[in-house]
Amino acid sequence: MTASAKEKIIIAVDAPDAVSALQLVEPLASEGCLFKIGLQLFTAEGPSIVSKLQSLGARIFLDLKFHDIPNTAREAVHSAVRLGVDMTTIHLCGGPRMVSESVSAAEGSKTLVLGVSVLTSMDDQSLRAVGVPSTAEEQVLHLAHMGLQCGLRGIVASPLEIHPLRKKFGSQLVIVTPGVRPLGSDAGDQKRIMTPGDALRAGADYLVIGRPITAAASPLDSLRAIAAEMEAAL
Ligand code: C5P
Repeated sequence: MTASAKEKIIIAVDAPDAVSALQLVEPLASEGCLFKIGLQLFTAEGPSIVSKLQSLGARIFLDLKFHDIPNTAREAVHSAVRLGVDMTTIHLCGGPRMVSESVSAAEGSKTLVLGVSVLTSMDDQSLRAVGVPSTAEEQVLHLAHMGLQCGLRGIVASPLEIHPLRKKFGSQLVIVTPGVRPLGSDAGDQKRIMTPGDALRAGADYLVIGRPITAAASPLDSLRAIAAEMEAAL
């Protein structure tokens, strides 16, 4: 019953090394969700951590947020495709050519290239500090529009951005949303949060969930409870 909800959950494996990553993922690998490897774990362990988790049956979201000249970004996406990951990320502020070349590097593969627009750590004031006069929301919509014109099919968006993106672009983009907290759980350092049910109702396709699962006494029980909460909202 909860299988389809679990397929929409991406567990953030924010672990310092392979031993702790494997310890976390092993009991969860056959549940049908995806696992996000970010900069911390990848920098510590390299590409072998991807194949180690894949060998447990885990599907991988490699979140390295590539941002470089078009040639380098394209080849980095090629490398991610060769690792057989299901999703990977690029920064949309790398510009139209970087985005279209990165997207075409994954064409014909199973890897979905997701665009990162404005990091949620940036507010209107910090955007002005880097020379962007728009509000964060305007800039997200602007970059999403540019991404779509470059063939982008998916985007990472905070809970507050789901609705404006759906309103403007309908179902053209797959939306992946972090900053999700189940009812009654600790928000930690996340400020703009939504419950899993609300994020799905707002239009998210996938939810990135870290500490509510990874720091739980039983990550498996927590995953199942969150999936049940999502199933009720679907
Ligand atoms: O533990 P928590 O659920 O807050 O983890 C969320 C994950 O999503 C972390 O890996 C974090 O780096 C990532 N993330 C985020 N906000 C963004 C983009 C990524 O929290 N805007």
